[in-house]
Amino acid sequence: MCSGRVCPTFIFKAFLEGADGVLVCGCHPGDCHYHEGNYKCLRRFKLIEKYIMQMGIEPDRVRLAWISASEGKQFAELVNHMTETVRNLGPSTIKLQLETFV
Ligand code: FES
Repeated sequence: MCSGRVCPTFIFKAFLEGADGVLVCGCHPGDCHYHEGNYKCLRRFKLIEKYIMQMGIEPDRVRLAWISASEGKQFAELVNHMTETVRNLGPSTIKLQLETFV
């Protein structure tokens, strides 16, 4: 329900299960129903980006974006852009890489 609830393991699990990219969306700063959830998410996301880069994974496969439920057109554009970015990167090898750690 809140981007502050997104644990880094959710993202790595998505990749482990075959996702080619992960888009995390949260409310705009200052609009979180739980007050600070999106700020917590942002701090976690900075760490996730470091892990992703250290693992040799293209950073564009993971994205954090602030979007409101009333921004349908912007949401569609965001998803289309993310889809195009991931499609251009091609299939992910993350699943194979993560399986070597497990
Ligand atoms: S309710 Fe927390 S980011 Fe939206």
